Amino acid sequence: MSDEHDEHHGHHDDHDQAYEPTSPWWLSGTPLEAEHHRLMRRRSVPIPWAESTAAVLAPAERARLAGTWMRRAAAEYLAVSTFSVLAIDLVAAMAPADVLSLCLRAGIDEVRHAEMCLRMAAIYGEAGAPPPMPPPGMSSLPDEPGRNKLHQALANTMLVSCVSETYATTVLHATRELTTDPAALAVLTSIYSDEVMHARLGWSYMRHAIDVGGEGVLAAAAAMLPRALRGVANVVERERPIGEVTEAVRAHGLMTPAEERLVFASCVHEVLIPGFEALGIAVGDAAEPYGDAWAHAA
Ligand SMILES: [Fe+2]
Ligand SMILES: [Fe+2]
Repeated sequence: MSDEHDEHHGHHDDHDQAYEPTSPWWLSGTPLEAEHHRLMRRRSVPIPWAESTAAVLAPAERARLAGTWMRRAAAEYLAVSTFSVLAIDLVAAMAPADVLSLCLRAGIDEVRHAEMCLRMAAIYGEAGAPPPMPPPGMSSLPDEPGRNKLHQALANTMLVSCVSETYATTVLHATRELTTDPAALAVLTSIYSDEVMHARLGWSYMRHAIDVGGEGVLAAAAAMLPRALRGVANVVERERPIGEVTEAVRAHGLMTPAEERLVFASCVHEVLIPGFEALGIAVGDAAEPYGDAWAHAA
């Protein structure tokens, strides 16, 4: 075994020693748990849970944060099914092996994200309350059975990976800038580093799909673009949990809805549209709904 491999083993040992189950109440209670921990440990970074400063917050601030981390847990849980459905589309479109493995691994990452968000919801939740569980739900990606398989895979890759995950990286990056609580910062950083790869997966697959499918794929992508932007804008526009976003709340990893609109609008204009244009996709007036009026409407 080479030195390089030994070094990698060294890193894994460090991770092994630091690993602790994140949300043990959300496990099966069967021997599968050991295998789950092995899987989660592979990519975990230690989170300093004990350094959380949640205890100093006012009850209303804690409730606001518990509500937001619970929504995040629900979104991460939904993303598990999103990548599962995307994997089916990619298999049907005969996507290359690296795209398939990274898509399936993204689903596993989302399980870990959901676990971390649940634990955060528990940290901010009321003492003695039952441990939080993700609410039931499953993603419903657009599915048109008659459609060309390559176009179907490409349309859902645009929505799930290029638009949704790229926006996630920009909003997580901006949120991290405000965050000083050590546990919240570590969780956001861990999620952020995975979402960067989830976005790269989509942009790389787009490049490949365009190489394989040419003009037809470019036309399908142009037709999908407004729907993909609208899909994520719907999430940004959604009502938030009740409670004021105080300075203390911000330090625990939370921006205001108004700030999130600004982040989405600049993501559309400065990252997504230039990215799709660089791939040769006709973007038309897809960015038009997300101008100044939309950005300042909250
Ligand atoms: Fe995630
Ligand atoms: Fe993700």
